[in-house]
Amino acid sequence: MTGARHSVPVALVTGAGSGIGRATAIELAGRGYMVALLDRDERGIAETETVITAAGGQVEPIPCDVTDVARVATVLKAFTDQYDRLDAVAACAGIEVLGDVLTLEETEWKRALDVNATGVFNTAKHTMPYLLDGGGAFVAVASDAGVFGAQGYSAYVASKHAVVGLIRCMALDFGPRGVRSNVVCPSFVETPMADRIFAASSSEDYDFYQAIVPLGRFAQAREVAQVIAHLLSAEASYTNGLVYNVDGGSTAGYYRSGTASSHM
Ligand SMILES: NC(=O)c1ccc[n+]([C@@H]2O[C@H](COP(=O)([O-])OP(=O)(O)OC[C@H]3O[C@@H](n4cnc5c(N)ncnc54)[C@H](O)[C@@H]3O)[C@@H](O)[C@H]2O)c1
Repeated sequence: MTGARHSVPVALVTGAGSGIGRATAIELAGRGYMVALLDRDERGIAETETVITAAGGQVEPIPCDVTDVARVATVLKAFTDQYDRLDAVAACAGIEVLGDVLTLEETEWKRALDVNATGVFNTAKHTMPYLLDGGGAFVAVASDAGVFGAQGYSAYVASKHAVVGLIRCMALDFGPRGVRSNVVCPSFVETPMADRIFAASSSEDYDFYQAIVPLGRFAQAREVAQVIAHLLSAEASYTNGLVYNVDGGSTAGYYRSGTASSHM
């Protein structure tokens, strides 16, 4: 790092142009971080920037596709050289890909793995040297699809299992050197991604996904963002390699609303 060390903690959020990434950037800015907003969607970045700067926060927009490893390396080097510190990384960028082995095209399979898994790898690879410099923390967003299967989501589930495996290894590889790595696994969160999935699904599917959540509703993006910000903070200083479900209890066990166990 070559610039003058920035006076406030610095965070990088990928997927900061929408949904969970945007909520995470807003949450981190509210906690006093200068936040780099990385996304392939420049308009989405600009909207997030407007919200944060209107509240008095500091941001640095970084238009970038997380699958473009050369560009990820270049923009992150330029960014960290400028600020001379990196305290927290939230890897939220991701895409939904629906289909099973028969219906998925190979290109869709590869795209899911490329964005959701390799995108997190690229982000980790090109931020870890800077996190190691100052003892920072890394959080990736996987999904409940990172810890169990889901009918009709083969590529998405495989990509999210890869993220969980990657983060566990990062926890082992870099924990001894002072960098904590954790992964957050939400079930459905009310974001544009969930809207697109439900628009392509039947109303029975929507009702089913809601009925298997013991809390009886989907998450708000802010509820996931608060967990991410907590895991990145010193409050979570003894967490490392944690697979943190933010799912209203839907992976706690078999559950369907409106039913009681037979012995009650
Ligand atoms: N919404 C849900 O129900 C839900 C549930 C579990 C996990 N997740 C995961 O949470 C993360 C965020 O999802 P969301 O619901 O906020 O989705 P979203 O579609 O609202 O936002 C995703 C953001 O990632 C960006 N992005 C996508 N591909 C990119 C790429 N190649 N390079 C850079 N940016 C890219 C998009 O432009 C967008 O701004 C994803 O990893 C998703 O898989 C979402």
